[in-house]
Formats: sequence, structure tokens, C-alpha cells
Amino acid sequence: MGVVERLELLYAIGDGEGANRPGLSAAEEEAHRLVGGWMQEAGLTVSRDRAGNLYGRVAGRDPTLPEVWIGSHLDSVPLGGRYDGALGVVAALEAVASLMERPERTIAVVAFRDEEGWRFGHGFLGSRAVSGGVDAAALDRRDRAGVSVRDALAELGLGFEPGASWLVPAPGAFVELHIEQGPVLAGMGVAVGVVDSIVGIVELEIVFQGVEGHAGTTPMDGRRDAALCAATFQVAAAQVARGIPAAVVTVGSIAVEPGAGNVVPRRARLVVDARAPDAARVAELEEGIRNAAARAAGEHGCSLEVTAAAHVAPVRCDPLVVEVLGRAAQSAPHLASGAGHDAQILGAAGVPMGMLFVRSLAGGISHSPLEDTTKADIAVAVGVLKRALPELCTRLAEASR
Ligand code: HGY
Ligand code: MN
Ligand code: MN
Repeated sequence: MGVVERLELLYAIGDGEGANRPGLSAAEEEAHRLVGGWMQEAGLTVSRDRAGNLYGRVAGRDPTLPEVWIGSHLDSVPLGGRYDGALGVVAALEAVASLMERPERTIAVVAFRDEEGWRFGHGFLGSRAVSGGVDAAALDRRDRAGVSVRDALAELGLGFEPGASWLVPAPGAFVELHIEQGPVLAGMGVAVGVVDSIVGIVELEIVFQGVEGHAGTTPMDGRRDAALCAATFQVAAAQVARGIPAAVVTVGSIAVEPGAGNVVPRRARLVVDARAPDAARVAELEEGIRNAAARAAGEHGCSLEVTAAAHVAPVRCDPLVVEVLGRAAQSAPHLASGAGHDAQILGAAGVPMGMLFVRSLAGGISHSPLEDTTKADIAVAVGVLKRALPELCTRLAEASR
């Protein structure tokens, strides 16, 4: 069974339009079971760690050498596409399972848990767990039904202490293949690209607290309308981002209380996703957003509460891994990633990492059922991985001498 057929089987998991595999959900668990079975069929040694990350290992000739990990994630956003995450795992399995000879060092195909983070409000759970980045507060985060990360892990027979890390011994390198989720490679007419850097992300929870009132009898003057405050803030936050090169800000989740059409809203909770290519611009963007929230609250007589749900550092890819991927990809173009990835969590934890992008079609749309690429481009990417992996194993040995 090829990569595309396997992606279709994964895409069919869960209900409704598109991919719907929330982190630590039964649907994500089903995807992990399916891929674990494919790993077994391919003769890999299958295991999973206490966060539920899945590993399929092919033993290297020298088991004492630090492993090479290659993979991505199997969870999805609501109404997700076929390729985000899943392509990186299934293509990695395809490449590793079809290596012509036993690699010098152990290679592990990895599927990290809950990379998207929308269910509990903070992404990269599996890769953060591996690198010791999940504290007690993160384990206590709750989804809309009140289920905590800790409970959801326990329900799957999983769990670990806050701050636990099992990056010992750390892998010698991590490679992630991912659909580009943008228009750059299609614009250049090329199938694959090598990533140089991955964007920095700040996730803020912003709550505006006003006063409820009757929609018909509360004069416009003097209202403390939390939803109007939120709207004022969103327009101002977009202006802040437009003023910083390559910065973006998204308010993808807004909850208004009490939520009745004839009641002036007393509370508005927003999840703000802000990104920029480097730490300085991320800091400037976050400050601008916080100031915009304070101004909007003042203008509409609302109180304000801002909580930083996540800070994910921008990371540069490892020069050696980039060079090996570049040679294997026969001098494909280099590009930056505006999307966040597990690779940046491992990179920030000191694991040399690199990424290979596969061309997106449909204008680069992603986090949508319209996400698209081609069988031919996937085949090119798998070929790059098959050339890169043996060389990476060798080059890592040279680098460590
Ligand atoms: O949000 C992101 O960039 C990734 O899809 N988690
Ligand atoms: Mn995604
Ligand atoms: Mn992804």
C-alpha cells in the first residue's frame, strides 16, 4: 500500500468534513494504532513513550550511536487536510522501510502527539514532553468539556511527571517532512524545498470583561460591550501586525458570553496566535498586541486579562542537516517556515534538525480539506529522504569525531 492510499485511510478517521483528529482523542489514538500496524508490517520495532508518541525503529549496525529520528504528527486541526502531519509520518515510514541496506545507526520513524494544540490551547505536546517542556500547568490545561491533559493521557493509559524528559540519549538528528502549507514552491514550479528556519509563535488568551445588558433598552453611550471591545481590539491587532515585516496575527477562536442575540455581551475570550520570523519581531508584535488590548478595554470600559498560553521560539535549522537535505534534494530552493512544527521544539532542545517541504497546490491553502499536493511530488520527497538518511547517518559520525 503506497503513501497516498495510507493517507486516505488516515483521512477517513473521525467524523465530518476533512481531517478531525484532536490531540489525545480516540481519533488520534486510532491513527496511531493504524500507523503502528504499518510499522509492524514493515518490520520496524514499535514502541510508544509516556506521552503517547509512537516510534518505529530499524536497528542500526552500531546501536551505540545516537539515533536519527524522522517523522511528524498524526493529530489534525478541525476540518484539517490530508497531508498536514500525516504526510511526514507516512512518507518517513515509506523511506525508512525501503532503505536498500541496514543503516549505520538506528533510525526511528516518530509520530508526535497533539502537535496542533487547539484542544487544550497549547501545541507540540508530544515533542515538548520528550524535551522536558511540559510543566504541571500544561498538564492541568482543560479542553472545552473540562477534560485536563492529565486526564486525557490517563484515559489512554499514558502519563508522566511534570518536567519529565526522555531525550537521553538525545537523537543525533531529527528530520521532518511536511507539506509546505504555502504558495512558494508552487510559485517556483518545484516539488520540494529545504527549510532554513521556523517561525516564532506567541499564543495569548485575552479576556475582555464588560457588563451585560438588554439589547433594546441599553443606550449605545455607556455600554460596556465586551464583544465590541474584542472587535475593536482585532482591528487594532491586525494593524500592529501589518506594521512589522512578515508578522502575522490571527484570532481563530472567540467565545462571547452569555451568547444571546438580545443581550449586550459581558465577556469575550479570544485566542490570539501571533507569529514573526525572529525573536525581536516576535517581542515587538507581542507588545503591540498587548497595548492594543489595553487601549480597546479602556475605550469600551471593559476590564482586561491577558494570559500567555505559549511562547515557541523561532529556530534555525541545523547547517549539517540542511546541507545533507540540500544535496539529496539536488539543490532545491531554501525557504522559511511560517508554520510551526515539532522540529522546532526538538531544535530548541538542542537536537540538530532539518525540514523538507513538499509543494502545496490550491494556492498553498492548509488547515483546510482543500489542502493539496500530488503523488508525483510525494514520490520526489520520499526519494530525497531515501538519499538523505544514509548520508546523514554517515555525516553525523564524521561530525562527532
Ligand atoms: O499552527 C501551526 O503552525 C502548526 O500547524 N501547528
Ligand atoms: Mn497544522
Ligand atoms: Mn503540521
